[in-house]
Formats: sequence, C-alpha cells, structure tokens
Amino acid sequence: NTKPTALIMIFGATGDLAKRKLFPSLYQLYTKNKLQNFAVIGIARRPLTTEQFQENVKDSVMTFANVDYRIEAFISHFHYHCHDVTSSQSYIELKQLASQINNQYKLKGNCIFYLAMAPEFFGTITNQLKTQGLTNVEGYKRLVIEKPFGTNFETAKALNEQIRTVFQEEEIYRIDHYLGKEMVQNIAVIRFSNALFEPLWNNRYISNIQITSSETLGVEERGRYYENSGALRDMVQNHMMQMVALLAMEPPISLTPEEIRSEKVRLLRSLRPMSQEEVNTYFVRGQYAQGIIHGETVPAYREEANVSIDSNTETYVAGKLMIDNFRWFGVPFYIQTGKRMDRKSTKIVVQFKDMPMNLYYQAEHKLTPNLLVIHIQPKEGITLLLNVKKSGTTTETKSVRLQLANEGTDYINTPEAYEKLLLDSMRGDATNFTHWDEVALSWKFIDTISEVWKKTNDESFPNYPAGSPGPSAADALLAHDGHIWWPIEKIEQEDQE
Ligand code: BG6
Repeated sequence: NTKPTALIMIFGATGDLAKRKLFPSLYQLYTKNKLQNFAVIGIARRPLTTEQFQENVKDSVMTFANVDYRIEAFISHFHYHCHDVTSSQSYIELKQLASQINNQYKLKGNCIFYLAMAPEFFGTITNQLKTQGLTNVEGYKRLVIEKPFGTNFETAKALNEQIRTVFQEEEIYRIDHYLGKEMVQNIAVIRFSNALFEPLWNNRYISNIQITSSETLGVEERGRYYENSGALRDMVQNHMMQMVALLAMEPPISLTPEEIRSEKVRLLRSLRPMSQEEVNTYFVRGQYAQGIIHGETVPAYREEANVSIDSNTETYVAGKLMIDNFRWFGVPFYIQTGKRMDRKSTKIVVQFKDMPMNLYYQAEHKLTPNLLVIHIQPKEGITLLLNVKKSGTTTETKSVRLQLANEGTDYINTPEAYEKLLLDSMRGDATNFTHWDEVALSWKFIDTISEVWKKTNDESFPNYPAGSPGPSAADALLAHDGHIWWPIEKIEQEDQE
C-alpha cells in the first residue's frame, strides 16, 4: 500500500474518458493523499497550450467531482503535448518533454502510458514509443488500455501481438471498469470469507444464477462504435463474462493476481461450447423501439445518430451459459444486459434449490426459494431471502428479506472504479485487470454467438420498447427451464420495511 510515484502520459487527453473519469479520479487520489508524486502529460491532436489544457482539466474535475482550494495545485501537475500519432518527430519531442518532467517532479523514471483512444492506434503508438526510445525508462513502464480490445478473437489476437512486441504481459493493464466496482470486488470476499455460502456454492444446492445489467441510457453519441459492437461485444464479452468467472471460479490458493487469473481462466475454459442451433435456442437478442423513459419519449435505436435505419445490431442480449465442471454441471447461468430498459440496475441473483419436500405446502402457496442477491449498482448491498412463519397462523410462511449490507452510496457510474484502477496500475497490482488469456477465451466464446447472428437478420427487430424490461423471448428462455427472472419487487432492498 505504498504511495506511488509516476509520470502518466494520457493519449486521447481531450476525449470523453479523460474528462469524465481520469481527471476526476486523479483529483480524488490527489486530495486523498494517495499519491507520492505524479505528473500528467496530456497528449492529443488538438493544438492547446499547457495553460488551456490545465483549464480543461479544471473544468472537468469541477463538473464531475467536488473541488476545493487544492484544485490549482492539482492542475499544475498537468502538461500538454500536441501530437500526431503517426509522426516520429512528435514522439521525439514527447520524449524530451517526458524526461524534463520526470526530472522536475522526481518521478523515478516510472512511466504509465494510458491509451484512452480508439484501439486502431494502439499498434502504431506502442511501436513508435519503442522506436523513439520512450519505453527506455529508468523505472517501470506500463501500458493501460481501454476496451474494445478487438472485435473478435482474431482482431484481439492481432492487437495483442502488436502491443506485446513492446510490453510484456505483466506490463499491460487491460481495463474492465466493472472489476473496479466495489461489489464486483466483493464477490470473491462474499464467497471465500463466509463459511455460510461456500459449502453450498455448487450444483447440489444452487438452482441457477442470474446476472442482469440494465441501463436506461441509449447509445448516446456512440452510434458509430455501437453499430459494430452491439450489446454482446460491448457488455457481455467483458463485463458479464468477468462476473460469471468471479462467481463460478474455484477458490484460488491465494489472492495474487496470478492465482486468481488462473482460476478465472480455468473457469472460462469450462464454458460449454455451443452449436449454431444452441445459440439460437439459448441466446436472445433485442433492439429497442421508441418508448418512454422517465416520462420522456425517446427514439428507437434505428433513429439514433450514425445508426443504420435497418440496423441489425442488438441493444439487448439474454443468454444461458452452462459450465461443464464438477461444481457447476447442470446449473444454468442466465445473463441479460440491455440499453434503454426500464431501470439502471446491475445485480446478481443466486437462486438456491428447493427443499427436498415442502412441509408448508398449502393450496396456492409455494415456498419462495432462498435467494442471495448481490446488488452492484446503483445501490450496493446484499440481500438474503428467507422463509419465516407468518405471525398468528400455524403453518403459513412468508418470504422476508435479510439485508446483510448496504454500505454503498447512491451513485451511478462515479469515478470510484477508475480511482481504484488507476491507483492499482500505479502500484503494479494487476488483480483487477484482465489478462490476455481471459480476453482470448472470452472472445472465442462470444465469436460463436456473433457468427451465428451475423448470418441472419433478426426479423423481429425492434422487439422491445424503450423503457421496458426487454423482449419477451428472454422470459421464455427461463420459462423453458421452469425459472423466472426474479422481479425487482421481490429482491430490491428499497422496499424493505
Ligand atoms: C461500457 C459500455 O463498457 O459500460 C457502455 O461500453 C455501458 O455502453 C457501460 O454504458 C456501462 O457501465 P456502468 O458502469 O454504467 O454499468
């Protein structure tokens, strides 16, 4: 837990990510006194002076975080380099600036290259960094990259090979911002620090697991990117698969990044491969039509900017994953994620099996199964559903919610996750970043699905109105197995008396 010292070079420093997440997160780290010494070189095409850049940084921090008098000192750590990614001369000048700043702030030659930009430039940039000697540093060099990491296994592999000619795997920090979320980090803690759960965490006691990540937002200004991505690549390949891996992996022998990763990799290897027919049976895609969100009419996906009028891109995915190992054989993992749904909510529901027989059975009364709900956002917490006696009657039962924790604040997509991940990357802790092996396996799984979908247009599109819980075929998917997506009223903690 030592305080890190580093020079952070942010490529794409005038972009959205830098503004919304990176600058505010760095400010939080700075004011919480988590950094020993740091400086930032913002790098982008736009011609800006360092003073103008500092003003931009200040504006974004003021928009996305609470600031105080320390803001002026904070922005004085920021410098700007107007850059052309393809020009060698530009890298030579950047190197001079970096070395000057390194000396000025005594940064020990530690260097983080943060690529907050489109991946088509990753290869060119890393190659130039090496050729022009920027990676020849006295301290450490690390590469932090954002998704999308490729668009399928082949492109991801090519991208990886490019960056691996310059950086070792352990120097590469692939961001999956879900891994920075408090309750996602809590999955392993809940599982491996409670004698109560781990003995039941298998196919003898668990009936199914449901992971939902719904959003009310549409594609916003990202139509161009999203058209080539869709919900499957945008959310499932990374965030959803990571949650599946954390929920289902075997206990690691220790908490080192290597041990955790090797368990995640083993789990991803045990995902049951699917035939074309199984993809069609077990995966449902959706696309939003016009509808009403928070009282306002919002356009259909096909009417969004930079989206084709007959687009076949899915904005919703539901699917059933099977894991072929001793622990999970026969237990479906249902996932669903979508844009423009009825609420912003990410949660995991673990449904335990029914009792061997129901002593409390009465007409129209079935016992509610025990559910463990992990609320990831916007509320954070854990709920456990138990059955107890209805007071006054002899055998009637009711389901009650035991709220185990609700420590989170009510925030949506705050810089918190980035704050943790930035600090981890500076400290050299790769636990909450994705290793190439995980990325590769997860792409291979996703490719099977996208290849089937590519071949056929979904004639039912658009098949759910904005502001709804998604297409009805997703309900049928679970109904087929005798299950339901647990309705929010059953499990949400706000309703708790
Ligand atoms: C990103 C996706 O990775 O995650 C976005 O590209 C999505 O499309 C976002 O909106 C969701 O993140 P969060 O933290 O709001 O659940």
